[in-house]
Amino acid sequence: MTITSIKKSKGNKPLVMVTAYDALFARLIEPSADIILVGDSLNMSFAGKADTLSATLDQMIYHTNAVCMGAESSFVVCDMPFGTYVNKDEALKNAIKVFQETNADSVKIEGGVDKADIVKHLTSNGIAVCGHIGLLPQAFRSEGGYKVKGKTQEEKSSLIEDAKAIEKAGAFCIVMEGVKADIAKDIAQSVNVPIIGIGAGVDVDGQVLVFSDMLGLFEAFTPKFVKKYLDGAALVKEAIASYAKEVEDKNFPKEEHTY
Ligand code: KIV
Repeated sequence: MTITSIKKSKGNKPLVMVTAYDALFARLIEPSADIILVGDSLNMSFAGKADTLSATLDQMIYHTNAVCMGAESSFVVCDMPFGTYVNKDEALKNAIKVFQETNADSVKIEGGVDKADIVKHLTSNGIAVCGHIGLLPQAFRSEGGYKVKGKTQEEKSSLIEDAKAIEKAGAFCIVMEGVKADIAKDIAQSVNVPIIGIGAGVDVDGQVLVFSDMLGLFEAFTPKFVKKYLDGAALVKEAIASYAKEVEDKNFPKEEHTY
């Protein structure tokens, strides 16, 4: 995929976005995904923290490099972590660092109208930007939890303004999280760039899921919007328990595993 083909997919083909944090999973995800997102959700499912806020730029760069190694021909988006785009200059300095130290094709920034000037500054300086509107995980502490958006007419209007502002600022696509489905449909129809939903219903231009959620590996909590395509945690625990039993019973290694 390229920026051009991603934009052209609107109205033609739903986009498939999946997160990855390392080369191992990136290689497994690459054949089926249009876009791989190195999400700052890695701070929770990889680093075990309670939210995404303490993810650092160096951490994102490290994981983005691993993903780019595993999925060399994928379109890779690197999440800009909390605190790295507080103003235009900081945002550009940090996004340039991502582009110079990784092969990421784009960065992702959370926010709407309030971040439009920052998105514009990045896009006009050669940095491709994927927006992120609706429920903003980086606002988890300031909003007192994860809040589904689009419940009132006022929220609907402000989400449409957010989408339009981010599109006008030059973003090539927008992730939209935790928005009532009927509202999400109207928002997707109000812009010309693809809206990739997560917890935003089916009437958008694509879907994104966190790989450790969809593979059933992340057990701390499961948001309503997650479908588990694999019972990964149970399978992994069962496999490790079999190995442990065979080691304890001296049934592993066998002849065929021995030099
Ligand atoms: O960090 C992440 O994985 C994300 C997705 C939830 C879209 O931003």
